[in-house]
Amino acid sequence: MVLPDVAEFPSSEWVELRIPDEDDVGLVLDASTATLIPLITTIPANCTVRQAREFIRRQQDRPRAGRGWSLTIVDRATGDAVGNLFVSCNSLELGAIEVGYWVAPSHRGRGHAANALRAAREWAVADLGADRLTSYIDPDNAPSLRTAQRAGLEQETTYDRWERVGDEFRPMTVWSYGPGRPEPGHIGPLESRMWLNDYRGDARWFDHHLHADFVEHGCSGALWTRDRIVNTRVDEEIMIRLPLADQCLQQLASDTWMLTYIAHQPDRSCRRVSIWQELSEGWRLRFHQGTPLP
Ligand SMILES: CC(C)(COP(=O)(O)OP(=O)(O)OC[C@H]1O[C@@H](n2cnc3c(N)ncnc32)[C@H](O)[C@@H]1OP(=O)(O)O)[C@@H](O)C(=O)NCCC(=O)NCCS
Repeated sequence: MVLPDVAEFPSSEWVELRIPDEDDVGLVLDASTATLIPLITTIPANCTVRQAREFIRRQQDRPRAGRGWSLTIVDRATGDAVGNLFVSCNSLELGAIEVGYWVAPSHRGRGHAANALRAAREWAVADLGADRLTSYIDPDNAPSLRTAQRAGLEQETTYDRWERVGDEFRPMTVWSYGPGRPEPGHIGPLESRMWLNDYRGDARWFDHHLHADFVEHGCSGALWTRDRIVNTRVDEEIMIRLPLADQCLQQLASDTWMLTYIAHQPDRSCRRVSIWQELSEGWRLRFHQGTPLP
């Protein structure tokens, strides 16, 4: 997906957000000393200057890949780079963006993340036309929960085993802003995750997110049951281009949604359809089908 042209990035009286640059090496080195940041970003723990530069280059490339913007948070009062806010556009076609953020240890305690989130919230509606902003927050992450609350987001559901943090799948509470319907906002991230190697290579994730009666009609014509998927080791990498192209979401019943899209891989493209159902324990994938494009 080509990201929309944006005239400017979020800013307010307190913070200004910009594309990361060479001046952010010190910020990344500082961030790499935190416990959680290396687990939820690609910053290696206690990284070197070279690794910090590589991280910055990867952030600069993100808009080109169509995934979203990784933005450095600058404190307007001091001009210091203090943290990062990532705007994920995987569900922008569905009117929703997802954000994640961090503040380097030596700049914490001044509410920079809440200020950045508030600015991003207003920018998403005005500049991206996204009527929904979500952030998925670990229920044990007190500073982040407070940040979302201070930025005016509202708490929704908590989902089990939503996000991979280090070697475990953590529950995440959805915090959101905007009038958008909650359902589509969850389906976009879930579907994208299915294609990330960290998730699809892990039987625990599928065991949790596949409906008891799940069945897939694969692109090759093969029939995949829930048991077959959970018990098959995934060795090859599937290089699906994200965000998923031509996403279209339709409600089939009060608790059931159908997502169609085109999954582009280097060697083929397939039309895909997924049916997601919300049970009392969370969203489960009920059916999936892939059909190769000629
Ligand atoms: C979450 C994070 C970005 C917040 O950084 P920050 O903007 O400097 O936030 P602050 O330190 O100013 O704290 C924000 C609020 O949380 C509160 N808080 C901080 N630590 C807390 C704790 N251990 N327990 C309870 N509340 C806490 C603060 O008192 C403040 O509340 P207040 O505004 O009512 O005073 C930062 O802690 C961080 O980078 N953490 C690691 C990465 C992360 O968790 N990212 C979020 C992923 S969703």
